[in-house]
Amino acid sequence: MVRFLPNHLLKYLGFDRVVVGTVTADPWEGNSKSKHGQRIWRYPATKSMVNWLGLPGLGAERVADILYGFGNHGVPITINFMSTPGKQGSELLADLQKTARITKELPFVDAWQLNISCPNTHGSSGQDSRRDYQKQLGAMFGAVEEVIGYVPRLEVKVSPDLDIKRVRDIVDVSSNHSVVSKFVIGNTTTEHDSDYIEFSPGVGGASGDAVYNRSFAVQKMFANEIESRGLPHGLRVCGGIRSAQRARQRVSYGPVKGIEFFTPLIYEGPKLLRELRAA
Ligand SMILES: Cc1cc2nc3c(=O)[nH]c(=O)nc-3n(C[C@H](O)[C@H](O)[C@H](O)COP(=O)(O)O)c2cc1C
Repeated sequence: MVRFLPNHLLKYLGFDRVVVGTVTADPWEGNSKSKHGQRIWRYPATKSMVNWLGLPGLGAERVADILYGFGNHGVPITINFMSTPGKQGSELLADLQKTARITKELPFVDAWQLNISCPNTHGSSGQDSRRDYQKQLGAMFGAVEEVIGYVPRLEVKVSPDLDIKRVRDIVDVSSNHSVVSKFVIGNTTTEHDSDYIEFSPGVGGASGDAVYNRSFAVQKMFANEIESRGLPHGLRVCGGIRSAQRARQRVSYGPVKGIEFFTPLIYEGPKLLRELRAA
């Protein structure tokens, strides 16, 4: 009974699902701390944050042990994953496959999310040529497909900083891989708009109110591509969704299948879930 309550806490708070990640195959320390000793900056006046974590984590095996040891979570789990920073080519693909293989064995894990949008790691793929970018993305989807199967269980988490050309590149490649089910829009932005981020640390990705407009703009691009091409993909939306009004605005555009949030939960607390559910 004592275990029952904490195990189901997330469910009773109102979550339908929990996304765990980003998981990398190997343990990784993340980026070094700034001269002020931090990797996260809060901007409470604008309900925004900047993080420069760079995917610190315990590695897939340890994460799987912890999740397994926790028992019944009461809600399904999505594993958000990416390759351990620094890996390239076949090593990168093997790293993704290792995480997929390990987490596939876990009860309650029924979906994966590939984080192709961390602004703090993995170099600047934004500069790659269209051909190279599509080739790399296709290789990653193909590698994951080999492990989790050719059924739509992989979400692709994208950046809110994409332009329409990159959106089309991603949609083109995704439509050739049956494993891709949804696009998650989106991650943090490298744009530190001074209206939201007073005194930018000069590194990291901004979230909360600072990313709301960008994330919504990219959501519209994906929605238009999906609908105009008649594709089966859904959307999961996140980025500054901290009120019922914002949630309504976001779910009204395109095939939205769910809302995720991180920064709003920190500023608003779990009461936000009740407010959104009531709406
Ligand atoms: C401290 C912090 C750490 C994050 N770490 C990850 C991560 O490891 N993987 C990931 O895909 N997104 C990560 N994100 C991005 C969030 O999941 C989310 O996509 C983004 O912050 C925009 O949504 P929000 O405004 O609701 O926070 C992180 C965000 C914050 C603030």
